[in-house]
Amino acid sequence: MVETVESRRVEEYKSRSSGKVYKLQDIKVSEGERVRTGEKELDSVLGGGLVGGMVVLVAGEPGIGKSTLLLQVALSGQGTPAKGGQALYVCGEESASQVSLRAKRIGGKGEVLLFESTNVDEIVAKIEEVKPEIVVVDSVQTLTTEDLTGTAGSVGQVKECAQRLAHSAKKLNIPIFMVGHVTKEGNIAGPRVLEHVVDTVLWFEGERSQSLRLIRAIKNRFGPTDEVGVFEMTDTGLKGVANPSQLLLAERVKNVPGSVVSVVLEGRRPLLVEIQALVCPSKLAIPRRVATGIDLTRLQMLVAVLTKRAGLHLEEADIYVNVTGGIRLADRGVDLPICLAIASSLLNRNLPSDVAAVGEVGLLGEVRKVGQLEKRVKDAKRLGYRVASAESGKSVEMAIKKLLE
Ligand code: TYD
Ligand code: MG
Repeated sequence: MVETVESRRVEEYKSRSSGKVYKLQDIKVSEGERVRTGEKELDSVLGGGLVGGMVVLVAGEPGIGKSTLLLQVALSGQGTPAKGGQALYVCGEESASQVSLRAKRIGGKGEVLLFESTNVDEIVAKIEEVKPEIVVVDSVQTLTTEDLTGTAGSVGQVKECAQRLAHSAKKLNIPIFMVGHVTKEGNIAGPRVLEHVVDTVLWFEGERSQSLRLIRAIKNRFGPTDEVGVFEMTDTGLKGVANPSQLLLAERVKNVPGSVVSVVLEGRRPLLVEIQALVCPSKLAIPRRVATGIDLTRLQMLVAVLTKRAGLHLEEADIYVNVTGGIRLADRGVDLPICLAIASSLLNRNLPSDVAAVGEVGLLGEVRKVGQLEKRVKDAKRLGYRVASAESGKSVEMAIKKLLE
């Protein structure tokens, strides 16, 4: 019975199908259609710029600079010059005057319409009326629709509002940026809920007390997900940093025990960072292990390897490890530099100041090769560093002996 019903439906669609079929080779996608955002670092993370109807979620902790970045994009006045590059900035969180104060700090000549509203349907209506070149919604967690009973920020509201905005973006072929807050506790109605609704999720991160900010795509339907954009927060807004390594190493004190330079990969981009370690006698029954910018469990494992495989006496020492610049590293290539920094502090001997160490360390105390070594070597060389990696020492113990003579 069921089968006959289905086959009849198929027959019906044979005569009135409206879905389009394209020949793959006939579809032309020109990169020229990308709209620049006015921020080079952001463009590269997006995959070359914005595409019409693209919905981008910019997520990050409060105070990291999401509003600043997107207001800069709005003020850049990029887009199709014929249309004037007008931007619609929806202020759901701050008043228009607060946003204008920020705009004064940033500067920029683009035409921006500020719209104070938290009603998503009203916002969609405004978008359809104004037909701007680009829309910024700050933030999606403040929006509601009267069709749902939940309060602003609830999963249902956030999802529905984002969906309505996305629908409008696709219909009018206008790119929309949405701001999404994440809290350290992990906001329930945070970006995770929205991942499926949007085309691109950009993660904005950094240490609030420091000026460096990284932006990376964790989902991108229109480009790669391994590009990283680097910004510096200044008094006049966010400035793209073309050469972050220089900035990260600017304040480095050379020839001091406990400091090791490493060359890590952030996405496709090599970065030279300084890893610092401080080892000092502990008065605690269980000595302190403090990691800033790296995983604490990883640090504990490396300390165990150093104790067992390299014979370092760390059992009664407090150990602090810090990545300068306030960035978080996930690259396993920092294992070796972390070990070297700890050994350097413990033994009170410093490494040659032109060495950048990189290598993964295994439980046997072996140093392993890391990906894209050539790229790292090249970047290190540019700034006058030579790379010490798996080739120069087959075990951590050997590397310590060799480099800390
Ligand atoms: P903001 O963009 O408001 O963060 P978010 O929208 O992610 O919550 O930026 C917050 C911080 O940036 C705030 O502490 C002030 C600082 N800031 C500057 O240092 N320079 C500037 O030019 C601007 C506009 C902000
Ligand atoms: Mg904000």
